[in-house]
Amino acid sequence: MKVDTYKKTSKDFRFPPNLDDYDHAYRVFDWKTAHKELDWFDGKLNAAYNAVDRHLHTWRKNKVALYWEGEAGEQKKFTFEELALASNKIGNILKDFGVERGDRVFIFLPRIPELYFSFLGILKIGATAGTLFSAFQEQALADRLENSGAQVVITNSELKLRIDKIKSKLPELKHIITVDTQDFQKSFEKASEDLHVAHMDPEDYAFMLYTSGTTGKPKGVVHAHRAVIGQYATAKWVLDLRDDDTYWCTADPGWVTGIAYEILGSWTAGVTAVVHAGRFDPKRWYEILEKYKVTVWYTAPTAIRMLMAAGDELVKKHDLTSLRHMCSVGEPLNPEAIKWAIKVFDKPFHDTWWQTETGAISIANYPCMDIKIGSMGKPFPGVVAAIVDEQGKEVETNAEGNIALRPGWPLMMKTIWKRPQKYKSYFEHGWYISGDRGWKDADGYFWFIGRADDVIKTAGERVGPFEVESALVEHPAVVEAGVIGKPDTLRGEIIKAFVVLDAGTKPSEQLKTELMDYVKKHLAGHAYPREIEFIDKLPKTRSGKIMRRILKAKEMGLPVGDTSTLEEY
Ligand code: PRX
Repeated sequence: MKVDTYKKTSKDFRFPPNLDDYDHAYRVFDWKTAHKELDWFDGKLNAAYNAVDRHLHTWRKNKVALYWEGEAGEQKKFTFEELALASNKIGNILKDFGVERGDRVFIFLPRIPELYFSFLGILKIGATAGTLFSAFQEQALADRLENSGAQVVITNSELKLRIDKIKSKLPELKHIITVDTQDFQKSFEKASEDLHVAHMDPEDYAFMLYTSGTTGKPKGVVHAHRAVIGQYATAKWVLDLRDDDTYWCTADPGWVTGIAYEILGSWTAGVTAVVHAGRFDPKRWYEILEKYKVTVWYTAPTAIRMLMAAGDELVKKHDLTSLRHMCSVGEPLNPEAIKWAIKVFDKPFHDTWWQTETGAISIANYPCMDIKIGSMGKPFPGVVAAIVDEQGKEVETNAEGNIALRPGWPLMMKTIWKRPQKYKSYFEHGWYISGDRGWKDADGYFWFIGRADDVIKTAGERVGPFEVESALVEHPAVVEAGVIGKPDTLRGEIIKAFVVLDAGTKPSEQLKTELMDYVKKHLAGHAYPREIEFIDKLPKTRSGKIMRRILKAKEMGLPVGDTSTLEEY
């Protein structure tokens, strides 16, 4: 395989990076040093306090923490002090509702300022914050709110209608707070700006996110307050954030990237952040980069490929010379996308690899390091990563295996909510097994190959095939469904469903559209199958498990492999 390398030159070092010598840092790194850079209360800490309130004792008090721009172009800005006070108010409102330490408070909002105030407010009173994409529909919401036993949901009047429909399934849900009502406005105005920030043990729960595996319903990955230590350290060394930066992370906090690098890590680093609440639109995105003079940009491969498809002329219409550093996460960053970035922005995207479970960037390309184009880079200092075989033995250089991390680094998830066995199942032979396959080259760079399981990555979103299959079989015409990720040049993968219809139903194009809409309405706007194929029978094991591997192999025209365990084929 021919590897192109982007060699850093003096042009890339006009601003010396925060991390100037990766190898040295990796050798001498000690998490205790990172601990010391945060604010502690006698061995206790609070992630939200570190993100916002600690800056109030410094010159950053009146620095803009958030430039917010809405879908229709509305603009607002908040200083660190304003963020601190607004989140204190939310903390007090929640306390008035009887919310206590450890209670789960879920946020079901688009990216409006109240989402950020709420997230911080929840953490400040020691409750556990959960985030929900505003694209979620009844089934996705019910699964998450039921399993988490959320006592409170913070939402708006439009999205509340979806919660109302499933309320009867949620006995533990006591309050729904609707932030766009007059009642809420009044209590927000009245609420005190003084709040005693809870001193949390580093191991206490801070936030949780539901993410998909290959089987079963989504699982609640729980993170402790200590996660902020790694989010801060990586924000500093991988995203290279500094005080004079204007930083734009394009992720939604319904995704771990939005929590770690739009709220906790980036604000702990004291940076001015931009949040754009609107949909993806190439022209708007370039306008935002230009208008706010964004210096550091963290985005995802599908967005980059969509920008690429929008053409070079559009880029040239904007002055993007403020950009200093660009990173990407969530799915494989193909070499063409990096080469295009070098051509049009005069700088590459730096790929970063991590997962909801790992809590922060785990493998990355650093500003100080040359980029082997197509590689995910090297482990963050303090993280031991390896490629291991099924026995946990490191494989040889360049050989394929499981991407694994040595447990014990301080950001790793704390648990899987109510599923301790599931949590334990991640760890084998002294390693955390990521579920991704990859290889490591002779220089220590890691390369991604694919998932070891059936998890689908579509436009960066992690979708469990089981969830989509369950949604499809709810439709009266569907008897069975098997769902796979089908490679797609734009979205990485698209969801493809193989559907067995009820004997009395005739397959038609119209029915395909109906099924797509059905999943959009019941599960989530982004988790619907873009392709549907009607088939007579699904390949299954003798115990009745759908063999997605076979569906995928057939789809791709590859050999189907061992079928001896199949019921019938
Ligand atoms: O398969 C890997 C892919 O995304 C998975 C994790 O998804 P999620 O928990 O949603 O978190 C994504 C953002 C932190 C991984 O198991 N993935 C993530 N980053 C990369 C990647 N695949 C290839 N290259 C990456 N840089």
